[in-house]
Parts: sequence; structure tokens; C-alpha cells
Amino acid sequence: MPDFPVARFHALKDGEGRIVHAGDLEVALFRDGDRVYALGNTCLHTGGALGEGFVIDGCAVCPWHGWQYDLASGRRRPGIGDLGVPTYATRVEADEVVVTVPDDAMGS
Ligand code: FES
Repeated sequence: MPDFPVARFHALKDGEGRIVHAGDLEVALFRDGDRVYALGNTCLHTGGALGEGFVIDGCAVCPWHGWQYDLASGRRRPGIGDLGVPTYATRVEADEVVVTVPDDAMGS
């Protein structure tokens, strides 16, 4: 599973999203306090860019029509079956945010 350094933690605004690239994959990055989360960038409603959204109560909020996704699980809130966006592991190393993407999410 490849790792991608995508941002400086200190440059992320608390509660705001940002679109980053992990290889060819668009990722929505969110800082919530001292934690950082990485979700798939495409909203399941009509394709809004989640990374242009913001955080409320532990959820990423799509800027287009307000759909919300749990930052940790990617599940839509309120839940609709198993509907959700992918999530990716993150870690911070010496202020660098690193996103780990499974091989099967990288495409061919
Ligand atoms: S496109 Fe995200 S809520 Fe509509």
C-alpha cells in the first residue's frame, strides 16, 4: 500500500477541507482538532467535491447540498444502508500528513 505525503499539518485549517492528490487519486483531507482524516473526494449525491467542504460534529459536510459523512468511517449521516465514501489511513510524521492508499484503490 503506497504512502503519499500530501500536506503540512500546521498549514491545515481546523474544520476545513482540502483537496489533495495521492498519486492519481483525489482525496478530501479534513483536520478536526488535532486529528486529520482522508476521504474519497466525490460526494455520492451528485458528485460534489467533499474537499471543498467543512467539518461539523465529526462529519465532513459537502459544500453543494450538505450531505454529511462520518470522518472516521466515511458512512453517510444519517445512514442510508451502507452508503458511504472510502476512507484512507493517515498519520502525521514531523508535521507531514501522510495518506496510505490501498493498492486496489489506485486503479491500473
Ligand atoms: S453533491 Fe454533495 S450534497 Fe449534493
